[in-house]
Amino acid sequence: MIRHLLSAADLDAGTATEVLDTAARMDEAIADREVKKLPTLRGRTVVNLFYEDSTRTRISFEAAAKRLSADVINFSAKGSSVSKGESLKDTALTLQAMGADAVVIRHPASGAPYQLAGWVNGSVLNAGDGTHEHPTQALLDAYTMRSRLGRVDGLSVAIVGDVLHSRVARSNVLLLSALGAKVTLVGPPTLLPLGIEDALASGTEVRYDLDEVLPGVDVVMMLRVQRERMEDAYFPSAREYTRRYGLDGARLRALPEHAIVMHPGPMNRGMEISPEVADSPRSTIVEQVANGVSVRMAVLYLLLGGAK
Ligand code: NCD
Repeated sequence: MIRHLLSAADLDAGTATEVLDTAARMDEAIADREVKKLPTLRGRTVVNLFYEDSTRTRISFEAAAKRLSADVINFSAKGSSVSKGESLKDTALTLQAMGADAVVIRHPASGAPYQLAGWVNGSVLNAGDGTHEHPTQALLDAYTMRSRLGRVDGLSVAIVGDVLHSRVARSNVLLLSALGAKVTLVGPPTLLPLGIEDALASGTEVRYDLDEVLPGVDVVMMLRVQRERMEDAYFPSAREYTRRYGLDGARLRALPEHAIVMHPGPMNRGMEISPEVADSPRSTIVEQVANGVSVRMAVLYLLLGGAK
């Protein structure tokens, strides 16, 4: 098993499948128990180091570590006045001195987890770094597809919207392609990285017209429009964006009957996704959150416990 999880590219198909299988076993092991806890990581310390806002991911990593009986330390760095590079190194040295076995880091700077991995002895798990990657989100998304549709291999997956700012999209392109899915990126040209076609693996497509893509997909993954990362106007108006790229009831009905709708959260209800779609039985948004705990338990187990 690998020591850190910094990028979805760290996972080949075999390793990713091992994570998904382990997550399924975690689900079963917990379901059978009256006390929803396994003793696996007793005596190990997991530090959650969050330099950026988070609801789902932070709570999910905390729940995962606690269900494995690890000691959990939550460090929320938001509001610190120290310059970021320096404070990250100083914090890393502190964590090192405390003997952290794993550090889960979310940071606004792309690449921060790589730096951290050079400063601590424990495992580093990337919980989202800038616009770069969010590998455990891709794993929980793949897990959700497998549990709803039975497989990932051969699925056609459209990832729609603000691809430019989305670490979720980047990690999913890598992981889903490795697992044999066909990924299509859909969005306005201004929200797709420049020259993206050339950077993508063969089989991955870029399209601008959502309505042309919908009838042929098994999964449509909507991305949040990340206004906090936008310094310019990337589209004429919110209404115009919704008209062209929002998933509403009419577009939901254009999907094949078996197709599912995903969103990593948090949602802009009424913008990239209508409330009708978000709350429909085809939507896996709440399942994705629940699956996130199982997948993160699997990753912590394989990085920390599995090796022993
Ligand atoms: C995402 C993130 O923070 O990268 N959310 C998440 O982790 N579930 C996506 C987003 O912020 O839009």
